[in-house]
Amino acid sequence: MTTPSLVIALTKGRILDEVLPLLAQANIVPSEDIEKSRKLIFDTNLPHVRLMVIRGSDVPTYVEFGSADIGVVGKDLLLEYGDEAFYEPLDLGIARCRLMTAEPIDRPAPTGRLRVATKFVNIAKRYFAERGTQIELIKLNGALELAPSMGLADAIVDIVDTGKTLTANGLEAKELIANVSSRIIVNKASMKIKNAAIREVLAQLGEAVARNN
Ligand code: PRP
Repeated sequence: MTTPSLVIALTKGRILDEVLPLLAQANIVPSEDIEKSRKLIFDTNLPHVRLMVIRGSDVPTYVEFGSADIGVVGKDLLLEYGDEAFYEPLDLGIARCRLMTAEPIDRPAPTGRLRVATKFVNIAKRYFAERGTQIELIKLNGALELAPSMGLADAIVDIVDTGKTLTANGLEAKELIANVSSRIIVNKASMKIKNAAIREVLAQLGEAVARNN
């Protein structure tokens, strides 16, 4: 029986830098340099495996609908998207960071509702609702750290890695919402139909992760 074809969805940037060495240890190597190419889908050394490179926030969508069998995506985006639509069998332990609330240093307590700017609207809604804090949610798509100093928001919910972006914008991290790392997600139907091929990739990646920790 021929091995079924597998599509693995990746994202450019930090996750890609850290996941390519893990994939190489699992014997999956792109046929050309992904960083230098404008292509979005790549063959690999394995005839049945292709890699696609898309925005992180689109990885769950591609995997939910089965256009990609496997995805690599940050836990932050999974928490935002919801994790019911696919399996999440492996924590790769890479691209670690924290999802946090942050606000201007020594900010006085706001008088009305707390205005929170974020691109993680579902996470922020859930987080503040669980605490009984009423907020006004302001959806932004990037450069969140600017919102408080420009008078748009009292606080933000964002990814913090080194904390340098917060400091550079006069903000301080406050509450930890979640620890984040990159996860493997798998389409539910693919897991049934292509079980052996997917288990093989997961086993190899699992061993690579264990070796690196
Ligand atoms: C993330 C996040 C912060 C920054 C934090 O942005 O939104 O801006 O990293 O990193 P630091 O704590 O090390 O300063 P990223 O560069 O991932 O781009 P994004 O705005 O597309 O999320």
